[in-house]
Amino acid sequence: MPVAADLLRDLEDEAKTLSAEALMRRICERLSQLPNFNWVGFYMLAQEACHKALLLGPYVGAPTPHVKIALNQGICGAAVSQGQTIVVDDVNADPRYLACSLETKSEIVAPVRRHGEIVGEIDIDSHTHAAFGPEERALVERCAELVGRALERQ
Ligand code: SME
Repeated sequence: MPVAADLLRDLEDEAKTLSAEALMRRICERLSQLPNFNWVGFYMLAQEACHKALLLGPYVGAPTPHVKIALNQGICGAAVSQGQTIVVDDVNADPRYLACSLETKSEIVAPVRRHGEIVGEIDIDSHTHAAFGPEERALVERCAELVGRALERQ
């Protein structure tokens, strides 16, 4: 995946100076230019009245109805609850899936950690079935790590 290698080098460079918010926007812009990365966005954990929820942050792609997701809902909630990256090759076969677009076929969600604690996640949807293999996963997890580092600096 040589294109992604260049992209990652650029993002690693930019991550040295950008705020976490600006870096998230930049990651959305750059990753959404990759083939099969059709919706790229961040959800951040927020304390609601008596529970935590995921609130939509920066994203690039079609508007989503899911601007707030409970931790017991969706692939997004599952990634935080389980504390791990979740890759779904066929969203229509996963009962946890919250539909954002009828075109979406596969999805990856990777937690963002600040000092080891999950504070949000990066979520990517693809119109292609099983779009996220080991290389894509490594790229997405590295992006999540860069945002976590940027949050630690703030
Ligand atoms: N599909 C996600 C919801 C967010 S949208 O994809 C942007 C989920 O199942 O949690």
